[in-house]
Amino acid sequence: MKNIAEIRADFPILSRKVYGKPLVYFDNGATTQKPQCVLDAVDEVYESYNGNIHRGVHFLSDMSSEAYEKAREKVRSFINADKREEIVFTSGTTGSINGIAFSFGERYIKPGDEIILSHLEHHANIVPWQMMCERKGAVLRVIPINDKGEIILDEYYKLLSSKTKLVSVTQASNALGTILPVKEIIAAAHSVNVPVLIDGAQGIQHGIVDVKAMDTDFYVFSGHKIYGPAGIGVLYGKEKWFSELPPFQGGGDMVDKVTFEKTTYNELPFKFEAGTMNYPAAIGLARALDYVLSIGRENIASREKELLSYATGRLSAIKGLKIYGTSDRKISTISFHIKDIHQYDTGMILDKIGIAVRTGTHCAQPVMDRYGIDGTVRASLCFYNTKEEIDTLADGIEKVKSMFA
Ligand code: ALA
Repeated sequence: MKNIAEIRADFPILSRKVYGKPLVYFDNGATTQKPQCVLDAVDEVYESYNGNIHRGVHFLSDMSSEAYEKAREKVRSFINADKREEIVFTSGTTGSINGIAFSFGERYIKPGDEIILSHLEHHANIVPWQMMCERKGAVLRVIPINDKGEIILDEYYKLLSSKTKLVSVTQASNALGTILPVKEIIAAAHSVNVPVLIDGAQGIQHGIVDVKAMDTDFYVFSGHKIYGPAGIGVLYGKEKWFSELPPFQGGGDMVDKVTFEKTTYNELPFKFEAGTMNYPAAIGLARALDYVLSIGRENIASREKELLSYATGRLSAIKGLKIYGTSDRKISTISFHIKDIHQYDTGMILDKIGIAVRTGTHCAQPVMDRYGIDGTVRASLCFYNTKEEIDTLADGIEKVKSMFA
């Protein structure tokens, strides 16, 4: 494995300064930085072979189409899906969930049906289902969480019933860092023939994702959270679902035959890819996945575990600092609040020291409501971060405290 200096040198932005101070980037939960090879991959498309995919008979279109389909194959093998037909590119996690919520609702949902979510969901895994429920007269049911920020499995088992049509939960909470017991969630749902969607936006980048071993029906994630470009995401679905579900967008390339009377649709996965897809970003994402594999997913997971443990130790030793999300099973995300200091003040002062954290509700207002707070400061770490950066954060928090003392 490369050493940390070599890894950091792969990411040009990590060596920049903000306000004259070295950048400490702890907002990886919002978006990750990009290694040079990803920047190069996207540049190469536009510089040397840009042509619209699946449309031209010309050289450039062929080259772009081939690189795009290779990117699909890379995603397939990365998440260990069975077939390329099961990999649909979208604009991101939000696009994927909105798409499936629409299609699933149109195909299967009747008034009185229920969709189960957890209390830990990001708004992207709440609102699309709520919109679908409003359209179809269906109802959302929510798995509660305990004080540590873990879902209460026994309550989940009680919610599963003959009315349940789908379970959609996150792999890990973006707001608290909790890793959910997705295997147990999926097994229980399948025992009553209910399909499951796993929101991998905060899962894919932290360890090995194997959709076959997980046996999930749908899995979604965003490219920009796994060191790839923004504007590209993935919707994985088992072929049996994708064959039955209607498209969620109409347009070019998703069709077979179009007349004013009737349209027939293209084969999988193209049925779900209407219009010009963001092929340069898909190609960049494939390069990002190669990069992750070159570092090693086990190496990434063990390094992040070490950073989480060090950061939890340093931060919990600070008087007046309370950590929200204290499960034993967490991704490298720490949400906290400093007594009597508003999270925005903390975030703004840390920023002036060069430290990027996220503040607020993290697009997970129900999580904040559960704790009766209006937000936290969130430090989301990844494998290119260092213990020295964590020390800088701890010193920065002490500085914030002294300014408000
Ligand atoms: N979902 C992203 C986050 O948690 C934006 O910050």
